[in-house]
Amino acid sequence: MPTMDFNALKQQAGEYAADLVESGMVIGLGTGSTAIFATRRIAQRLGSGDLRAIAAVPTSLATEAAAIELGIPLTTLAKRPRVDITIDGADEVDPDFNLIKGGGGAHLREKIVAQATERLVIVVDESKLSQQLGANWPVPVEVIPFNWESQAEYLRKLGGAPALRMAGEKPFHTDQGNIILDCDFGPIAEPAALDARLNSRAGIVEHGLFIGMARDVVAAGAGGLRHLRQSKG
Ligand code: A5P
Repeated sequence: MPTMDFNALKQQAGEYAADLVESGMVIGLGTGSTAIFATRRIAQRLGSGDLRAIAAVPTSLATEAAAIELGIPLTTLAKRPRVDITIDGADEVDPDFNLIKGGGGAHLREKIVAQATERLVIVVDESKLSQQLGANWPVPVEVIPFNWESQAEYLRKLGGAPALRMAGEKPFHTDQGNIILDCDFGPIAEPAALDARLNSRAGIVEHGLFIGMARDVVAAGAGGLRHLRQSKG
């Protein structure tokens, strides 16, 4: 079996999606090793004059730093509350375009930008496509540090197995200064029901289930690139 060059697949997907951006648009810039290829391509298109008058909302401090370095003009949702298109990665994508995100810990800002977005385009290599969310990836749950153990207990009661995300010897901290419990639920029978349960708990700031938010999925695999579009909505 040929070895897959995942980086090349991520690049194909990211660059393809960046070409969906049009002059004058407000763009959400996603976070992670796939979305960065879209960000770089947007910068290239700006540099060549192919793209003009765009403004971008970054979804993490890391993406903000990359965009500044690449010379992409930034804005905020306060100034531009409606985002035309956001290009972002995902860790798992089901057949209904529901997602698990947050492998990089940026899912709170990513969801804030996604919910202000007209068209959320998800860019992945094909290994992220899954028949059922949770089969391959835990759900990242961002919790405030105050008495976080009680959130771990709540997640266990919901049937999950939470693990505190570490950065070396210390707990990983998000851009908001919170911590993350990566919660293995196994294959999730009803993602929308789990989404509601997680949303209703004080102390859980946000989680990585993105239900019904993505409109397009661009998936790159050994057999080529597929642009999947949501039929409804
Ligand atoms: C960031 O927290 C995440 O939501 C990423 O978008 C997601 O983990 C996908 O990242 P990669 O493209 O690096 O796999």
